[in-house]
Formats: sequence, C-alpha cells, structure tokens
Amino acid sequence: MTSPRDLLVCLCSRVSEGELIEAIRAGHRDVAALREATGANTGCGDCLEDLEALLTDEAEQNAPAEGGPQKSALHHAEGGPL
Ligand code: FES
Repeated sequence: MTSPRDLLVCLCSRVSEGELIEAIRAGHRDVAALREATGANTGCGDCLEDLEALLTDEAEQNAPAEGGPQKSALHHAEGGPL
C-alpha cells in the first residue's frame, strides 16, 4: 500500500512528502533549508510550489490558536441571572 506521504513531491531528487514533512518538523522551515536537508528542488524547480504549500500547511498546524474558535458562550453565562 502507498500512503500519501510516500508520494514523491520532487521527482528530480525523488523526495517524498513524508521526508519533507519530517524535515520541516525537524526545523527546516523555508525552501532553502528544505533544499539543503533533503535535496528537493535542486533540479527542474517544478516542485517549488509544492514545497511552499507544505511549509505553509505545517506552519498553520503549529501556529497558536490565535483567532481560532471563540470560547463557548456558556462560559460567559456562568453566574448570570437565572
Ligand atoms: S521536481 Fe523538484 S526539482 Fe524537479
């Protein structure tokens, strides 16, 4: 079976999505760092947008929940008139 993470993002250097995600999580948080760590995007350059998309996805997943869902309205009702 092939998981989506086994899919090759960079065909030139044969770098999979899983390898790239691991590298991002290990601290390679921009294209240049990913290129150095994995060898991705060192050929034709076609995978650049995919690398940027993975970086954005990972950054969003690790971002603090600022501006996220509001706290439950029930919380504000505590102590209110019955
Ligand atoms: S597909 Fe990544 S450099 Fe060509």
